[in-house]
Amino acid sequence: MKLCMIGTGYVGLVSGACFADLGNTVWCVDTDINKIEKLNNNEIPIYEPGLEELVIKNKNFGRLKFTTNLNLAIKNSDIIFICVGTPISKKNKSADLSYVFKVASQISSNINKFKVIVTKSTVPVMTGDKIEKIIMKKKRKTHFEVVSNPEFLREGEAIRDFKFPDRIVVGSNNKKVSKKLESLYEPLIKKGATFFSTNRRGAELIKYASNAFLATKISYINEIANLCEKTGVNIEDISIGMGLDKRIGSRFLRAGPAYGGSCFPKDTRAIAVTGDLYKTNLSIIKSVVKSNEKRKILLIERIKNILSRKIKKKKIAFLGVTFKPNTDDMRESLSLLMIPFLQKKGALINYYDPSGEKKEFSNIKNINYCENIYDACNKADLIVIHTEWDEFKTIDFKKISKSKKIKIFDLRNLYSPKSMKKKGLVYYSIGR
Ligand SMILES: NC(=O)c1ccc[n+]([C@@H]2O[C@H](COP(=O)([O-])OP(=O)(O)OC[C@H]3O[C@@H](n4cnc5c(N)ncnc54)[C@H](O)[C@@H]3O)[C@@H](O)[C@H]2O)c1
Repeated sequence: MKLCMIGTGYVGLVSGACFADLGNTVWCVDTDINKIEKLNNNEIPIYEPGLEELVIKNKNFGRLKFTTNLNLAIKNSDIIFICVGTPISKKNKSADLSYVFKVASQISSNINKFKVIVTKSTVPVMTGDKIEKIIMKKKRKTHFEVVSNPEFLREGEAIRDFKFPDRIVVGSNNKKVSKKLESLYEPLIKKGATFFSTNRRGAELIKYASNAFLATKISYINEIANLCEKTGVNIEDISIGMGLDKRIGSRFLRAGPAYGGSCFPKDTRAIAVTGDLYKTNLSIIKSVVKSNEKRKILLIERIKNILSRKIKKKKIAFLGVTFKPNTDDMRESLSLLMIPFLQKKGALINYYDPSGEKKEFSNIKNINYCENIYDACNKADLIVIHTEWDEFKTIDFKKISKSKKIKIFDLRNLYSPKSMKKKGLVYYSIGR
């Protein structure tokens, strides 16, 4: 099929490359000239395992093309995926739909034959209705169909998630169009993915309800971890014991820092606003948002206490700064709050992240990027294991300068407290 992805970010680029790999012809469009130039030069603008090979392979086959020319890409495609960002609106914490609506209006000017317009961006329930209205200002309803097909891939595992999803959700009020999307996804359905078709509003809400539910699971276990710390119970035992119940399941039940990233923080806030808009108090989700905010403060307080509330001139090493491993995404990462806070209090920060130096810290004094774990940790008073990249699971603590008693705060429970104590390290973790 002939496809076009509008927005070549984490979702648009990964799904575009994967659709091309399934044999479709895919145009990836972006307004960011830099990004498109890089992609045309075989440079991948984001860190996502396996993506480079996939992009280059499909470019070479001539199935994957990158352009800033939206009009050309729309005219040459039958199915148009909207994959632009829906960040949090500064005004009222709802989803900022300005990028989506702008694209809708651009599409309406370029409809030259029947088009299926698919929203992959995460958008509040009833956004499809609004997109339809925008397009109808210029084109008759018989020339297009607006469908919702929310994306569930996770950064860091995006290609695997796209190719082997648990489910593909398509929301359409038109059976023929729903069937067309089912046949686009047929290769994945044949490999075991469940295709679930519902109406458009239903699909839009499934995405938000799922993300808010997963965020709730994380916040729930994080609060239980707080109780474990007070009662001498090991949170890992609780997670295992709970997760063995199939009704609960073990995933998203590992205690750690506050949830972050480009989706959960904004989507939980946005669905709460949608609830208010329709006079429905989503009180559980609102508590989750509050609990997550409180957790950030609580963990900063813990760092202060570990350093006996003396932060000035303390050398603190951060291992990992992204919100999770195998991505370079810094959106809503806890490190963005923790590091500047500690720096303002006079700490000297070193950090290392396998995805490289971060522009977010580049102009702040006393925050240095190091090329590896051991340079970052050299002479540190405190090491904060912030992100669970694989290479942080096998640190040779003997290699780290012993001029001071090393303190470690492991936000990801990567090590056993017993074995760390045996090594003479002062080790703190979560809920243990
Ligand atoms: N990142 C994830 O893990 C993930 C997972 C599932 C769903 N989503 C949802 O998918 C959507 C996209 O997320 P993302 O992380 O890929 O965002 P992103 O910020 O990485 O990418 C969005 C891209 O859209 C481009 N863009 C903006 N306006 C444009 C226009 N008018 N024409 C062409 N390009 C334009 C931007 O330049 C940017 O490259 C969001 O709604 C998000 O909530 C994201």
